[in-house]
Amino acid sequence: MKNKCFYHCRWLLVLLVCQLTHVAIPEVTTTSVESPVRILVVYYSRTGHTERMASGVVQGAESVPNVVTMLKKVTEVTIEDLNAADGIILGCPTYFANMPGDMKTLMDDWNWKMKVDFTDKVGGAFATAGGQVGGQGHVVTSLLLFMLNNRMVVAGPLYQNEQTGSIWGEPGAAAITGPLDPGVSTQELDGARKLGRRIALLAAKMK
Ligand SMILES: Cc1cc2nc3c(=O)[nH]c(=O)nc-3n(C[C@H](O)[C@H](O)[C@H](O)COP(=O)(O)O)c2cc1C
Repeated sequence: MKNKCFYHCRWLLVLLVCQLTHVAIPEVTTTSVESPVRILVVYYSRTGHTERMASGVVQGAESVPNVVTMLKKVTEVTIEDLNAADGIILGCPTYFANMPGDMKTLMDDWNWKMKVDFTDKVGGAFATAGGQVGGQGHVVTSLLLFMLNNRMVVAGPLYQNEQTGSIWGEPGAAAITGPLDPGVSTQELDGARKLGRRIALLAAKMK
């Protein structure tokens, strides 16, 4: 935005000087202003845990240069938001070891009713669950399957062992929210950040 404004002001100045000095106006040379990478984070949350993870995902995406993010509840997302996004990251709680029905219905509509073309957008997923083996892995996989089925390219967060330097990946980010392990921990939030960063980096590469 700043770059564009600077470009237009500079060009107006050139025109003004040419007018005043009767010098021929130079040909316009096109300078390409790099368009930002757009990351859309969409979530469903009733009691706030998944919303917290979503904010971590946004922070991670925003740590990548030239990335703009948009954070939306699944009920608020528009066809314009989806079409404009280079990367889409979806998150929701686990209900009965599955994604909540509301989330699934709205996602189905993106394809079925809105006719969004998801081809080659980069996707990632995150989930929260009350239990340690409450079905969060299944929810992440289901969200990724929706993306794969809609021709997206999917990825998960990367981790690195500080001591050994070894790297590993996971299918998505998740948090256990209770009652045995209440709230979103610092490490779980860090996983959400890593997910956002990875998707933003890949979306930038693909653009
Ligand atoms: C209707 C319902 C079903 C749930 N089913 C599960 C479940 O199968 N496994 C689980 O671990 N947690 C389950 N939970 C707990 C939620 O997944 C958990 O509290 C989640 O973090 C809530 O996310 P939110 O705060 O973003 O709404 C369920 C909660 C509700 C309300």
